[in-house]
Amino acid sequence: MKICKRLNIKYPIIQAGMAGGPTTPELVAAVSNAGALGTLGAGYMSPEDIRKVLSEIMTLTEKPFAVNLFLPQVYEKNEQQILSMQKQLNKYRQKLGLPEVSTVPDIQNHFEQQLNVMIEAGVKVLSFTFNEPSADLVEKLHDHGITVIATATTVKEAKNLELRGVDMIVAQGSEAGGHRGTFLNGEEEALIGTMALVPQIVDAVECPVIAAGGIMDGRGMMAALSLGASAVQLGTAFLTIKESGASEIHKSAILASKDTDTKVTSAFSGKSARGMKNEMMLSLENTKNLPPYPIQHMLTSDIRKEAARQGNKEFVSMWAGQASAMSKESTAKELINQLVSDCKNTLSSLSTDWK
Ligand SMILES: Cc1cc2nc3c(=O)[nH]c(=O)nc-3n(C[C@H](O)[C@H](O)[C@H](O)COP(=O)(O)O)c2cc1C
Repeated sequence: MKICKRLNIKYPIIQAGMAGGPTTPELVAAVSNAGALGTLGAGYMSPEDIRKVLSEIMTLTEKPFAVNLFLPQVYEKNEQQILSMQKQLNKYRQKLGLPEVSTVPDIQNHFEQQLNVMIEAGVKVLSFTFNEPSADLVEKLHDHGITVIATATTVKEAKNLELRGVDMIVAQGSEAGGHRGTFLNGEEEALIGTMALVPQIVDAVECPVIAAGGIMDGRGMMAALSLGASAVQLGTAFLTIKESGASEIHKSAILASKDTDTKVTSAFSGKSARGMKNEMMLSLENTKNLPPYPIQHMLTSDIRKEAARQGNKEFVSMWAGQASAMSKESTAKELINQLVSDCKNTLSSLSTDWK
């Protein structure tokens, strides 16, 4: 299956859905208007906010775009563990002038309502991470004419997703910024680099594979296509784009970064994710008994918000991939045009002094 035809896009480039603010309606629409597929990262959004933002995107573009959601996961809520983490987090709250917290938060899940909003709004492409959709869910989405994309970090996960009937699989290598999509294997053993993961998943499944992780320019795009990927998905490269809603501290940390500045951590959310190293990440790193996602995500949320408000980069999560140092400031359209022209030029400039 040809991905561009199926998604009704010009170029095999997908801007990753990045929950938490980077994927503004302006970014999603600019990417789609430039011939790639923009994606709204809606994982943390309320159903009401999603409805509002979808209608904004639809006023900015008539082209197809996707929405990305987090599939719910099973987790254990241990009150003792939560209270002990609150105690530990109070030292960061103190540094930021926040009140101490010693309560257990209420955790709500809006997945079904989020899904209904997408269906009602007529979204044509949905991508998932953090788990596998049930075959029934995939069938229901297909009945509504929705193309379903899901994320795998191992061959086993990709095979499972194919069995569930998804249309396309994102092969997320360990270079990738943001949360790991891992749902079957241990998070440590699922840290497989894009170069190794993509061809193994391509060989294991029939459906098209979208390569993600460390792709920043036309060379990376050409490499991924050479490995058998049908398209590429870029997250970090879109964070420093003019239309991105990433915070200024996040953007400037990325622009000033070098190859060794990121690390995979569970410190901020209880789930493995790659981001820029900072004080909070490194000091929470070795905590035993970290509450699982989404509990730890909720517990650290007041700290991350206040630190962002104060412009303090030591206590926020700044998700970014291993190639963040290659990020540039430009518009979405400029990035996409550059990717396409560099990808084509890479082929002719390959150094071949062998026969
Ligand atoms: C800031 C940020 C937020 C992200 N949020 C999501 C998300 O909400 N859903 C998702 O499926 N992937 C998310 N990702 C991961 C991307 O889908 C993709 O796998 C990754 O960005 C690819 O690697 P790269 O960052 O090196 O391009 C996020 C990535 C970043 C950098």
